[in-house]
Amino acid sequence: MRPEIRFFLNGRPCRLSGLPPHTTLLEWLRGQGLTAVKEGCAEGDCGACSVLIGTPRRARLDWRAVNACILMLPQVDGRAVVTAEGLARGDGSLHPAQRLLADTHGTQCGFCSPGFAIALAALARRPERDDETILDAIAGNLCRCTGYRPILEAARALPVIAPAVEEAEIAATLERDCAQPLDYRAGGGRFVAPRDLDAALAVLAEEPEAWVLAGGTDLGLRITKRHEEPRCVVSLARVGELAAVGREGRDTVIGAAVPYADALEAISALAPSVGALVRRIGAAQIRAVGTIGGNLANASPIGDTLPPLIALGASVELASREGRRTVAVEDFVTGYRKTVLRPGEVVVSVRIPAPGAATLVRAYKVARRIDQDIAAVSAAFALSVEDGRVTRARVAFGGIAERPLRTPEVEVALTGRLWSLETARAAGEAARRAVRPISDVRGSAGYRATVCGNLLERLWWDTAGPAGVAATLDALEGAP
Ligand SMILES: Cc1cc2nc3c(=O)[nH]c(=O)nc-3n(C[C@H](O)[C@H](O)[C@H](O)COP(=O)(O)OP(=O)(O)OC[C@H]3O[C@@H](n4cnc5c(N)ncnc54)[C@H](O)[C@@H]3O)c2cc1C
Ligand code: FES
Ligand code: FES
Repeated sequence: MRPEIRFFLNGRPCRLSGLPPHTTLLEWLRGQGLTAVKEGCAEGDCGACSVLIGTPRRARLDWRAVNACILMLPQVDGRAVVTAEGLARGDGSLHPAQRLLADTHGTQCGFCSPGFAIALAALARRPERDDETILDAIAGNLCRCTGYRPILEAARALPVIAPAVEEAEIAATLERDCAQPLDYRAGGGRFVAPRDLDAALAVLAEEPEAWVLAGGTDLGLRITKRHEEPRCVVSLARVGELAAVGREGRDTVIGAAVPYADALEAISALAPSVGALVRRIGAAQIRAVGTIGGNLANASPIGDTLPPLIALGASVELASREGRRTVAVEDFVTGYRKTVLRPGEVVVSVRIPAPGAATLVRAYKVARRIDQDIAAVSAAFALSVEDGRVTRARVAFGGIAERPLRTPEVEVALTGRLWSLETARAAGEAARRAVRPISDVRGSAGYRATVCGNLLERLWWDTAGPAGVAATLDALEGAP
């Protein structure tokens, strides 16, 4: 076991000890005088604290923008960190992202600008560049005074930047120096990052109160907002078995510690509509570290992945020192932030069966804006339609009860019926009656129930195709 945190900061090797493990990366960087990294919200929402994190992969560094405010310092162990100060070239000239932000007048008060420079620097590594990828890259960064037009102009003019030669050296050094798992202790706290599942389960058995950490996009807020100081944190981010995405027969198996950004391709291949929904979870900085395992175990009533996983009939594999078991996702969450997880047990992976060719899959998230927002209501549908008739239906909603739920009443209203607008409307009525939402800032109970019903009709318009739509228009024409 290795007792010190090792990483690269702006191209230089760093070894740290003696700081409490719940120290955030933001706190530490600013303490080092790297004050381009700002604190705006301290909850992952504004991007002012964005830094680049480079993870060694295939002898290279894979760079992503992340929020330093909700990242615990030991989470950067084995990685390279670059702040806006480190973007500038060795000769002092600005990085193209910085130069372009200045040239297009994409900065006024400047508070957000280092964060935008980081987001654009991450974008500059991607060969494909269209408005969708640009908006996706900057959706997690908030500017209150410049206006986004000049920032977009800077992004559109950004050249593609190839990896520098020294990145391969840094990647190799990190792989070599951080091969031993981290067991960091300081200030009465401990942060362990085992490399294999048995070792992780052994620490959890020894430290029953430990926080189980994947990306920390939920847990980080307990530090910054609730000022909690965990005595022990067990990070699963480096556990090999939890970090893989693969196919087993017709099933896609996603390791519980795989960040959304790495799971997106497999999810989109399985069900494009679910991929589109995952693309709306937080923003790029959140998806760079946040995981499906964390979303499930967090058991929030508006966790975005739960309704589609329930509709697709997915299951989770759980492991503890007592052994392994498999639980259907619909049975995994038992109440408000409650799951079937036992002490010392973790989620290993999520298994998603491929929907059949005749199955229509759609996932919807209704929120006040597209990016970086929490759903008022979410819904997912998997409908098998043969010869125009629904032969099987799985329907799940989020934001309508203390946990995401499957709604058998809606499934009954669909099964065996012609997949018509009439059926969709009848199922919508069943949905309105079945759900028991609460009223809060995101929507009243009445609004939520109405949306649930309307989503059934939207499903029909989205899936029935031109023939279905034409038939409906004909029917409407003939209507009195
Ligand atoms: C700015 C911001 C925007 C967000 N937007 C969205 C959004 O649009 N939609 C949405 O659904 N969520 C959103 N979230 C919430 C969060 O990003 C997700 O829930 C994410 O999936 C959590 O994953 P994580 O790996 O970061 O979890 P962590 O914070 O590491 O852990 C979350 C919980 O799960 C437990 N846990 C993690 N992994 C395991 C495991 N393998 N086994 C057992 N327990 C485990 C932890 O102990 C903790 O209780 C947002 C969060 C922020 C800060
Ligand atoms: S300070 Fe706002 S995202 Fe970190
Ligand atoms: S320039 Fe002031 S917040 Fe963006």
